[in-house]
Formats: sequence, C-alpha cells, structure tokens
Amino acid sequence: MKYQFESQRVSYPYFVAAMLLFGAQILFGLVIGAQYLWPDLLFPAIPFNIGRMIHINLLVVWLIFGFMGAAYYLLPEEVEGEIYSTKLAMVQFWLFLAGGATAIVGYLFRWHDGREFLEQPTLIKVGIVIVVLMFIFNMIMTMIKGRRRTSTSIVLLTGFLGLAVFYLFAFYKPVNMVIDKYYWWWVVHLWVEGVWELIMAAFLSFLLIKLTGVDREVAEKWLYVIVGLTFLTGVIGTGHHYYWIGTPAFWQTWGAWFSAIEVLPFVAMVAFSFKMIAKRSRQHPNRAAILWTAGAAVLSFLGAGVWGFMHTLPQVNFYTHGTQITASHGHLAFYGAYAVIVLAMASYAMPNLRKAGSAITSQKLEIFAFWTMGASMLFITLALTGAGIVQVYLQRVLGMSYMETQSFMNIFYFIRLFFGATFAIGLVVYLYDFFTGKARQAA
Ligand code: HEM
Ligand code: HEM
Ligand SMILES: [Fe+2]
Repeated sequence: MKYQFESQRVSYPYFVAAMLLFGAQILFGLVIGAQYLWPDLLFPAIPFNIGRMIHINLLVVWLIFGFMGAAYYLLPEEVEGEIYSTKLAMVQFWLFLAGGATAIVGYLFRWHDGREFLEQPTLIKVGIVIVVLMFIFNMIMTMIKGRRRTSTSIVLLTGFLGLAVFYLFAFYKPVNMVIDKYYWWWVVHLWVEGVWELIMAAFLSFLLIKLTGVDREVAEKWLYVIVGLTFLTGVIGTGHHYYWIGTPAFWQTWGAWFSAIEVLPFVAMVAFSFKMIAKRSRQHPNRAAILWTAGAAVLSFLGAGVWGFMHTLPQVNFYTHGTQITASHGHLAFYGAYAVIVLAMASYAMPNLRKAGSAITSQKLEIFAFWTMGASMLFITLALTGAGIVQVYLQRVLGMSYMETQSFMNIFYFIRLFFGATFAIGLVVYLYDFFTGKARQAA
C-alpha cells in the first residue's frame, strides 16, 4: 500500500518537524519540572518563566506542524486530487520553521511579549498569520480542484479557518486588564474547546473510516453530532474563565451550565470511536494507529471531560482557580486530545510515507511507546492533582501563603518529575521508531 497521491509526501517534513519540536518541548518540561525541586538549576541561563514559556510555545508550534502535516496527508485522499501546490506547502513549511525557531531562540534572549501562550513578538505573530493564510489558501484550492468534497474535509477546513480567525485576537492588547483577559480567552479557550476540537474530530473521522472500513455515511453523521455539540457547549462555555476576573456576574451561571455540558462532545468522540471499531469490517494491519486513535478519544475524555468538569463549576473553581489542579487538567487535556491525535495521524501516515512502502513494521516499539507515554501522563496528572488538593486546602481553606504551601507539595513534584522521565523514555522509543522505521524495514 503506497501513498495514493504523490503530493501526500509533502506531509513528511511537517511530521519530522513536529516530532523534533515535541522532543524539545519535553526536554524543557523536564528542566522546569526539576526547577520546582531545585529552583537554582540553570539560573540565570534558563529561568523558570522562560523555560515555561518555551515548554508551552513549543507545544503549540509542534501541534500546529502536526495538524498541517496531517491535513496535507488527509486532503488528497478525501478530495481525490493532489495538493494544489506542493511548492507553496514547502515555502510555508520553511517560513513556519524559521518563525517558530526564531521565537523560541528569541525567548532565551528575552525577546518576548507578556501574555501566556501568546508571548511571540508582534513581528513573529504577523509571520504566523501569513503562514496560516498560505496554508488555508492551499487547502481551499485543493478542495476546489479535487473531485469531491467530503464532510470530513469541510469540518477540517472550518477548524483551520477558526484557528486563524481567533488568533487575530492575539494582536488586540487593551490596557485594561479585564478586557485584556476577556479577549485572551477568545484565543486560548476558543482554540482548544472550540475550533481545535473540529480539527480533532475531522482527523478522528478520517482515521476511523480508514482503519475500520465502516461506511463514510455512518462516520460523518457522528462527525456532525460532535461538531454540533462542540459549538453548542464550547462557545458560551468560555464563561468558565469569567468567574473571577471582573466580568459581569451572569457569567457564573452561563459559564457553569454551558461548560458543564462541554463534556458531551468528548463523550460523543469516545462512543463514536468504540462503535466504529466494534463494527469494523476488516482487521487493519496498522494496530498501532488503531491504538493511538482510540487512545485520543479516551484520554481526551479523561483530560478535558473528567478533569475539566472537576473544576468547572464556580463553587469548585472558587477554590481551585490557578492552582496545580489547573495544571493537572492542562497536561492531560492537551496530551490526550491534541498530542495523541497528531501521533495517531503520524502513526497511520508514516508507513505509507516511507519510501520502502508496503509492510507495516515496528508495531511493538510503537505500542510500547503508546502505553509508556500514556501511563506516564496519567501519573503526572495524578501527582499534580495530589499537589493541587494539598495546595487548595493549605492555601485556599487555611489561608497559608503561596510560598509556604509549596514545601508541603514537594513529594508530588518529585513524582511528577519521575514520571516525566518515564514519559521521556517512551518518547525516545517512539522517535527511534519514527526515524529508523524505514531503515529497519528495508533491512
Ligand atoms: C482538549 C480540550 C482542553 C484543553 C487542551 C484544555 C486546556 C486547558 C489549559 C491549558 C488551561 C489553563 C489555562 C491557563 O490558565 O493558563 C485550562 C483551564 C481550564 N479548563 Fe480546560 N482544556 C480543555 C477542555 C476543557 C473542558 C472540556 C472543560 C470543562 C468541562 C475545561 C475546564 C477548564 C477550566 C474551568 C479552566 C480554568 C481553571 C482555573 O480557573 O484555573 N477545559 N484548560
Ligand atoms: C516530561 C514531561 C513534562 C513535564 C515534567 C512538564 C512540566 C511542566 C511544568 C513544570 C509546567 C509549569 C507549571 C506551572 O506553571 O507551575 C508545565 C506547564 C504546562 N505543560 Fe508540561 N510538562 C511535561 C509534559 C507536557 C506535555 C506532554 C504536555 C502536553 C502535551 C504539556 C503541556 C503543558 C501545558 C499546557 C502547561 C501549562 C499549564 C497551565 O498553565 O496550567 N506538558 N509543564
Ligand atoms: Fe476553557
């Protein structure tokens, strides 16, 4: 089974860049995780705030590289036609890589803006917008030229359009802190609990159609249910960030109700995946890809659904706001939903992208990586949840000072770092497989 369309190969460099940046993200995660225990580590070269910035920026950059690579792989098969311009795709690739690298290296030299996740200097932000517009243009032209337009490809396009539109709020920097934070969430929340969910659902639909052989009509009905639930819940659900920042009080009611039902699209994705896999008409040889696909549904349900619900009601969030509970949820949700869906697409695409073609190899290593990384992330999440419970009790109930509480949480930070190391081992195995699969296959 070779790739059906020559232009699908353009996704390969995107996956490679995503994997290398993922590796760097985890390296910085280990550094800042260690700094929680040894605060002077690497000071003043990489202070915690800079390391943290690099950790979360690399996360977003590698995920977007992964989304774009996956889209370039998916589109030709969905629309039955080649990518409109592979040249444009490559120019766009190098521009994005240059912009991303400049931003990250710039952070080390203190060239950055102030707001979490949006620390890119304005010039880099402009570059990112240009890159995304090139990508969307290429995508739309590919869809126009293709022989068919599927619901999966349309949902994917909608997701990317939303990603571009909401990023524009990163340019709006009001002086008033309340207004500033109000719109900051239009990027951060409306990305991960809005338009990125559409991107994830489209990949899930593509993967399940390919891996189970179940009819497209069945899959795409589910896709529309998921998209509907996402819009219904996620938009007004933004209110769960407006409880305590100086926004009107009605947000406590609206935010609570709508964000509570934000669990539904994630429930639907689990039901969708398991229904399709149960009804599969054939045993696809790429077992690792099936595992990653089902894993994305289950882990996103846990991280976003369960851990999100846990602190989304104002009665609870009053105590947990901005504590390690938030960090526990942030880790499992980002990993379970977006890291794993990109890895699922890479896992599906890579055997077809390797020139040697046909056989699917090294399932053992990939499956080992899946369980090691998944279990490690679950333990990291549990460690941070433990730290969060101690923090809420000491700081928010007893009223102890922030710094004083920290010394009671060291055991959890140690556990987090330990499982960070096992996560890194899983990732090294995954990357080894990713980069040498072809050579070992040919041998
Ligand atoms: C895959 C989807 C999701 C991702 C990637 C994600 C990620 C995050 C991250 C990184 C933060 C911290 C933001 C910050 O303050 O810097 C956060 C906050 C929060 N998330 Fe999510 N989230 C997702 C879905 C959900 C869902 C479905 C819910 C509710 C059911 C939820 C509820 C919350 C709440 C209430 C906060 C604010 C915590 C606080 O007050 O400190 N999230 N999320
Ligand atoms: C080796 C494993 C990892 C370690 C040791 C680690 C460590 C850390 C640390 C120490 C922070 C700063 C928390 C704070 O501000 O107090 C952080 C933030 C964050 N990390 Fe990681 N990380 C790891 C892996 C990951 C992975 C795999 C993801 C996602 C796929 C991720 C996503 C995030 C996010 C979204 C934040 C911001 C959370 C928030 O604001 O609540 N990390 N990480
Ligand atoms: Fe949110």
